[in-house]
Amino acid sequence: SNCEVEPMVADFPKIIAHRGANDRFNESTISAYKIAANDDVDALEVDLRMTKDGSLVAMHDKTIDRTTNGTGEVSHYNLEEIKEIPTIEVFSNQSTVAVIPTLKEILDTFTDTEHYYIETRLVNDVLAMEESLVQLLNEYDLIEKKLVTIQSFSQDSLERIHELAPEVPLTLLFGKGKFSLKEAKMADYPFIGMEASDVTLKNVNELHRQGKEVHVFFNDLETEKKEQERVKLLNVDGYFTNDIGFTKKILQLE
Ligand code: G3P
Ligand code: CA
Repeated sequence: SNCEVEPMVADFPKIIAHRGANDRFNESTISAYKIAANDDVDALEVDLRMTKDGSLVAMHDKTIDRTTNGTGEVSHYNLEEIKEIPTIEVFSNQSTVAVIPTLKEILDTFTDTEHYYIETRLVNDVLAMEESLVQLLNEYDLIEKKLVTIQSFSQDSLERIHELAPEVPLTLLFGKGKFSLKEAKMADYPFIGMEASDVTLKNVNELHRQGKEVHVFFNDLETEKKEQERVKLLNVDGYFTNDIGFTKKILQLE
């Protein structure tokens, strides 16, 4: 019918470096982000956690156990204490000891040369990081320059970000197996993030018809390559990739 809305999809899928180039250096470290930036990705993905004294650091897990030599929750450490704890050695070519970077250090490193795709979350179940995040991004003029996308599994967090910075594009994330097409279509956000196993032709087409982009993440490294090739055929708009070289290859960028 002539009521049909033209799908509004990205000109070209975005390559989002998931926690930096985590296949070549410890995830979420300055070095991992430098490698990704050097690969000319479209965005650097940064997971945020907040220290006891309110600093924002790049860290995926709630605790530092998996990625550093320390133990315990990020929110139990002051910044000065957490900066003393080295990351574990994951790669044999690692010549220097890496530490957990603050978001500020990441922004100081790349300033306005990169796009930042930042994930917020609740801190001990309450809104906490949104104001300092927006303030920091404004200090670097990144919102004004359209160099930031903010993503979250928490709609409360996205709503708070929207109040503080209405011009920032937002991504609502759905955890693996928790995707709801109805909820995603109703959500007033331009981007929807979902796990690869939830990406079907119907889900992608219906979201495109709503004018939304679909950004896919991959929880399973074992199946990621196969899944990237599959979702590529469904015309997804963004890849939170754990292997930048592979994603570039299937998108025929190299
Ligand atoms: O942010 C996209 C994707 O990273 C969401 O899952 O657990 O890897 O942060 P997670
Ligand atoms: Ca993330």
